[in-house]
Amino acid sequence: QEEGEGGEEYLFKIVVIGDSAVGKSNLLSRFARNEFDSNSKATIGVEFQTQVVDIEGKEIKAQIWDTAGQERFRAVTSAYYRGAVGALIVYDITRRTSFDSVKRWLDELGTHCDTAIARMLVGNKCDLDSIREVSRDEGKSLAEEESLFFMETSALDSTNVEAAFEVVIREIY
Ligand code: GTP
Ligand code: MG
Repeated sequence: QEEGEGGEEYLFKIVVIGDSAVGKSNLLSRFARNEFDSNSKATIGVEFQTQVVDIEGKEIKAQIWDTAGQERFRAVTSAYYRGAVGALIVYDITRRTSFDSVKRWLDELGTHCDTAIARMLVGNKCDLDSIREVSRDEGKSLAEEESLFFMETSALDSTNVEAAFEVVIREIY
């Protein structure tokens, strides 16, 4: 959380974490560029995008960091989390194992960031309801247990993508 010279400028770092292929990179590209890639490759290292969001007339720069879900492609972890004031922990509603991993991701987040950061549990790929393996209620219960915000999203059809990022940004703000 930084204040610019005019006292009206905000830069928030938000990290996106979760297992490989849950849709982290596509959530980010949908939010920042309104793009979706059905053939996206696994992320290697770290990428980030800055998106300007208007909250109550204030210009907020959300710097959103995306890294590899695959261990072997991950870059130095402590640098990834440094200075983060918000986090999206993403699983895929069609893949139970990605939901089971959420606790591990929360542990990692907890070792690098203050628990006071704004945290949102995101069940992505809600467009694939017919092959769902994790119910909405399970997601909601876990979020309540861990004191996280919760939303189901679809990077494919855009459901709740902006909303998920905006709730986190508003909470920080
Ligand atoms: P890593 O970079 O390996 O950690 O994966 P990731 O979490 O960034 O996943 P990515 O965004 O690359 O998406 C993985 C696959 O899921 C791609 O084929 C995407 O097209 C697909 N995908 C992502 N979001 C959605 C979604 O909301 N709905 C559907 N149906 N497919 C999605
Ligand atoms: Mg990725």
